[in-house]
Amino acid sequence: MKIECVIDGKMLSLNLNSNKPLSLVLQEDLDNSTVNAHCRGRLCGLCAVLMDNEAVLSCMVPAFELNEKEIRTFETFQKERSMRDIERAYDEVGVKPCETCYQSRSIIIESLSNKLLERPNTPSEQIISELSVIDCSCMDTEDMLKIVKRVTDLKRRRNVRRS
Ligand code: FES
Repeated sequence: MKIECVIDGKMLSLNLNSNKPLSLVLQEDLDNSTVNAHCRGRLCGLCAVLMDNEAVLSCMVPAFELNEKEIRTFETFQKERSMRDIERAYDEVGVKPCETCYQSRSIIIESLSNKLLERPNTPSEQIISELSVIDCSCMDTEDMLKIVKRVTDLKRRRNVRRS
């Protein structure tokens, strides 16, 4: 199946098995070293990428869903301004994810802070449930929630200054 999509800023036209998961497309076809997990199904949470600005577990996204989508992996996300906000929030809250989940957690925090920016009344329980897709105990959920709120706040202030 021919798939046209944008991955990390590059327009691609790929010939793929329609059911091949995005995690394997990134690893095997695109040599992307920032997604290296493949538990085959929502077990570890270590394969998050941004698809049209929303975090998804790439092992759960079949190739046929990629058509006309924009994917950002940690490869490019780590150089964005948003990542500096997330780093700042890690420092301010005083906790940082371990090496294993750092990339995936940062991608999920980005997605949730965007959601909270658009819908400030999103209940904390919903945010906590989305944060819990990562099966790693290096950070506690309350700290994660503080980080998401702090990143949202940094983005909101920047938006106010711009307007
Ligand atoms: S590799 Fe996707 S959830 Fe584990």
